[in-house]
Amino acid sequence: MSRTRFKLVPLLAALALAGSAQAAPTFADVAPILNARCVICHTGASAPSGLQLTSYDTVMAGGKGGPAVVAGAPAASELVKRIKGERQPRMPMTGPPWLTEAEVALIEGWIQDGAKPGAAVAAAAPARPAAPVTGPVTYAHIEPILLSRCVMCHVDSGGKMGPPPEGYVLRSYEQTIAATDRVRVIPGNPAASELLRKVNGLSRPRMPFGGPPWLADEEIQLLSRWIADGARNRDGQPAPMPVGARVRLRGTLTAPGELDGAAFSADGGRRDKSPQVGSAAELRGWVQPDGSIRVERLRSR
Ligand code: HEC
Ligand code: HEC
Repeated sequence: MSRTRFKLVPLLAALALAGSAQAAPTFADVAPILNARCVICHTGASAPSGLQLTSYDTVMAGGKGGPAVVAGAPAASELVKRIKGERQPRMPMTGPPWLTEAEVALIEGWIQDGAKPGAAVAAAAPARPAAPVTGPVTYAHIEPILLSRCVMCHVDSGGKMGPPPEGYVLRSYEQTIAATDRVRVIPGNPAASELLRKVNGLSRPRMPFGGPPWLADEEIQLLSRWIADGARNRDGQPAPMPVGARVRLRGTLTAPGELDGAAFSADGGRRDKSPQVGSAAELRGWVQPDGSIRVERLRSR
């Protein structure tokens, strides 16, 4: 008796599968996955490869590399190759975690069945903050900028340039403020934070590398405010001051001891052939308890 009862289980599972196969997935089923895992980058005018994954029409329109979805042919669809890692970099670029097997199967089933639109779904809202941020800026406000414009290179592995440039990874809050080799974010001191100096172009090469397009002015402002407000985490807690951490800043010497208009204390520091005012310079030093920089070395670049 019990044997037959156990046999029912696979039968029921098969029936359930047959049932879901009858109701073939449509874009309405796929959209929530794209919204949750892809739209943070694949949105707006600066979407990677011009591929916007925000609506049925934009998904079907594809990107600069051609169509992302070939109706009826999941194996030939760039989108499927990317989520399965058959083509690098694997998507989502923020992974792992990658999409689950069930999510991949759903997307493949949708394409296999002709990539139909199904019930109307509202286009995904832009991931980047539309309204000005009031109150202190937190990591939650700036994360979409870093993920959509920086992580394609500054990622642990699988990045556009191979290993993360300068060993700097921008995939998480902890990595963004990390001070392991040197620090690029000094809470409360945007002028001495290489992250900001790289996106506003004071430090060359300007980021995102290969731009324009550079970040929008509002995005640069938001990053500047985030640092000025203490480089807060998602919960709004300011970052600890990385006292003693090494700093390397690149820019233009605007006066002796002044890089791009910001003054640095150099007493006791070593100066190799002090660069001329107006020339490109590289400053190395370390972070003081008040967030200022003590210069150890200043040289021409
Ligand atoms: C962190 C940002 C990010 C996320 C999240 C992301 N992508 Fe991408 N995607 C990129 C970048 C950057 C590229 C361009 C990479 C390259 O040079 O090939 C890209 C390229 C692609 C391409 C190739 C486009 C073409 O025409 O060559 C597809 C398809 C794609 N992504 C699909 C997805 C899907 C599906 C998801 C979600 C499951 C996703 N991406 C999530 C950043 C992202
Ligand atoms: C296309 C790849 C690419 C993208 C996208 C990119 N970077 Fe970079 N990044 C680089 C390279 C390459 C370097 C090293 C440049 C050099 O000094 O030659 C670098 C260096 C940096 C540095 C200097 C690190 C240090 O130790 O001083 C910072 C900070 C930085 N990037 C921030 C960003 C930010 C923020 C973004 C996004 C707004 C971004 N990058 C986007 C490739 C990239």
